[in-house]
Amino acid sequence: MSLVITNIGELMTQHLWGGAQGGVLREAAVVIEGERISWLGPAASAPAADESFDAGGRALLPGWVDSHTHLIFAGDRTAEFEARMAGENYSAGGIAVTTGATRSTTDFDLTRLAMGRVAEAVSQGTTYLETKTGYGLDVENEARSARIASTVVDEVTYLGAHLVPVGVDADEYTELVCGPMLEAVRPYARWADVFCERGAFTEEQSRRVLQACRAAGLGLRIHGNQLGPGAGVRLAVEFGAASVDHVNYVDDGDVAALAGSWSDWDAQTGQGHRGTVATALPACDLSTRQPLAPGRMLLDAGVQLALASNCNPGTSYTSSMAFCVTTAVLQMGLSVHEAVRAATYGGALALGRESGTDADGRRAVGSIAVGHRADLHLLNAPSATHLAYRPGIPLTAAVWRAGVRLVLPAPVQSAQS
Ligand code: NIG
Repeated sequence: MSLVITNIGELMTQHLWGGAQGGVLREAAVVIEGERISWLGPAASAPAADESFDAGGRALLPGWVDSHTHLIFAGDRTAEFEARMAGENYSAGGIAVTTGATRSTTDFDLTRLAMGRVAEAVSQGTTYLETKTGYGLDVENEARSARIASTVVDEVTYLGAHLVPVGVDADEYTELVCGPMLEAVRPYARWADVFCERGAFTEEQSRRVLQACRAAGLGLRIHGNQLGPGAGVRLAVEFGAASVDHVNYVDDGDVAALAGSWSDWDAQTGQGHRGTVATALPACDLSTRQPLAPGRMLLDAGVQLALASNCNPGTSYTSSMAFCVTTAVLQMGLSVHEAVRAATYGGALALGRESGTDADGRRAVGSIAVGHRADLHLLNAPSATHLAYRPGIPLTAAVWRAGVRLVLPAPVQSAQS
């Protein structure tokens, strides 16, 4: 079956920088064949298709690529959030509360909870999701989390190195993470992550985890520089990690290392050696009252930036990528185009899915181009600018994932529709 989506007021392809128009087409059309995009261009010259959808002059974007979430959990941390809003600091220790609740929840309920969170994300335009383990923290529960994650999201990250469980020796636990736990999780995960931060894992322990996970064939990512300056960014670049996430406290050396990691990559063609993406998590920064990651400065320095929700029960209980984009524009100094790019193409780059087709036949996501997976997000607005211009207004009108139009909750008619 083929479908032509026509009468698109603004088509924001986010395909690299798209030449002179920055990848933005007006009065455009897109054709989907099966799961892939087969044509895009001016609506007036669109080819015929089996079916047609009139976008009504509204804006069409790539679906959001959320490259950092923690969706496999049970329990509630409202009290911790309230305490924080009353002035307490965030500390990594809250992870233990969620670990207790997660361990005592059945597979069925953990899966149901995760699926509900995925559905919530999809209904807001997210079409590609990464999620992490990290609330199991023993061999059985980390493997279980990874297995469940592999049934509900696109990309699974092993985060046994999230926190040293209470009462366990840190070095012994690190060896467990690098040995039996890694072996048990390996069949379900493509990535490994370590929380390199005071109160979590030291530089030495993080290095050990990264070495073991790399040797096991996993791609690497790091939670780093979230609560204070630290070794996270440097380690990420040294190990060739695909991303370093949080990046709230970075110094000039960190920024230069991140920018330098992209020096052999051509942003216009997407060719060359890929570096380490800096992933900003603005909803988390607001919810922990940390300074927002310096997204503007990172972009100006030549760093590749992603925006992600960091949906988790402790520091960022939202899956709203639109909220992250809005915040990045209103409070981090990004243009709408830059923020949308970071939340689509940037996320895909952080997951190594921005171009080509992988060995399993998985197509590129995060931008609208011929051959890419047809992951599309129609806004109830004439342009993507409305994401920042109308903060907090739900603007998702329709979502296609791999060419399939998803059933969304009944839309609220906005002034634009
Ligand atoms: O990304 N930084 C570490 N992990 C999560 C927090 C998890 C929690 O507190 O439950 C984060 O913010």
